[in-house]
Amino acid sequence: MNKKTITDIDVKGKKVLVRVDFNVPLSSKDPNDHITVTDDTRIQAALPTINYLLEHGASLILCSHLGRPSTAADKQYAMDPVAARLGELLGKPVKKVDQVVGPEVTAAAAALQPGDVLVLENTRFDPGEKKNDLGLAAELAALADVYVNDAFGSAHRAHSSTEGVARAIHAKGGPAVAGFLMGKELAALGTAVSNPPHPYVAIMGGAKISDKIQLIENLLKTADKVLIGGGMANTFLKAQGHEIGKSLVEAEALPEAKRLLATAVNRLVLPVDVIVADEFLADAKGDIVPVYAIPADKMALDIGPATIERFGHELQGARLVVWNGPMGVFEFDNFAQGTNAMAELLAELTELGAEVVIGGGDSAAAVKKAGLTDKMSHVSTGGGASLELLEGKELPGIAALDDK
Ligand code: 3PG
Repeated sequence: MNKKTITDIDVKGKKVLVRVDFNVPLSSKDPNDHITVTDDTRIQAALPTINYLLEHGASLILCSHLGRPSTAADKQYAMDPVAARLGELLGKPVKKVDQVVGPEVTAAAAALQPGDVLVLENTRFDPGEKKNDLGLAAELAALADVYVNDAFGSAHRAHSSTEGVARAIHAKGGPAVAGFLMGKELAALGTAVSNPPHPYVAIMGGAKISDKIQLIENLLKTADKVLIGGGMANTFLKAQGHEIGKSLVEAEALPEAKRLLATAVNRLVLPVDVIVADEFLADAKGDIVPVYAIPADKMALDIGPATIERFGHELQGARLVVWNGPMGVFEFDNFAQGTNAMAELLAELTELGAEVVIGGGDSAAAVKKAGLTDKMSHVSTGGGASLELLEGKELPGIAALDDK
């Protein structure tokens, strides 16, 4: 990575504002409930940075968004459960303030001693955050001597706490650097973009092709093969002339699908069989059919066993694999076989020494559900951010940090 990190600067005795991505799932949407964090993966992922800074004599002001509140009145998105979980993980008290900026925050930040941790309120409670308001950015920067961005999952957002604040800290002469998680994510996903070892196989899934056209296009520049599963495969199958019954299809994306198939020649690998059902229901009965025989009254909800075998064959000997998007409706156990089989194949490949990168979002959730997270080389904490990085885009939260 060509950006400075926390090891490049002196943080002893400094107040450090750390943007983390603590956008985690919560137990309830009702502010009157006792809300808890149901999956603390993202909090755990930020601990190496937090611990390093604390061990090196800094005091920390942590900030993050949580959910998509429309106003500060959406109290179910208050940061209290997150601060509580962080305190448990750190084994020390964590102070939480009820504002993003303002007199209470300024006083709490000023009182921090080395080793102290302060958590600000949900940055999206401030209407300036999503507008990348420079006034808010300057107020955040005023709290600290140093800005650290460890929020890879939010690096594709140009918001006050991810982008504007880096410029605001520069304006007062302070450094803006990356944390360890940011560095780790960029090393894993960045390799796929700029310097992939070959054979390099990408696996794409998920419901919609329209969200991922640019991604597939970019992958076709670097990957040797791109395997397609999930709902998006239907649109490609239709573009190839197959009848796909009641399966999800994006008619408006058919021309793009045809173009990608033509560009890729034989490097886009489509399913050869699928599991079909009458309805989109968890307990629907699945039948295996070849892709050229999908009944008119059925819909494809998973890839079939012959496809799993074909994909397994394509993956043999791969040195780099990037996976984004489930192979079927993995939330329904009856249609999770394709996704689970892929997760198992990739765990075996990792064991054999391949670099296997899971591109966040649903694929990370599927790998977790299969209990295989620890068996992969890297599971990204970013959903949209990892997609945009793989699309070849520059992420504003990273671009704003100091170059080496
Ligand atoms: C994510 O969960 O992908 C990030 O935290 C970004 O959240 P957002 O899509 O609400 O900006």
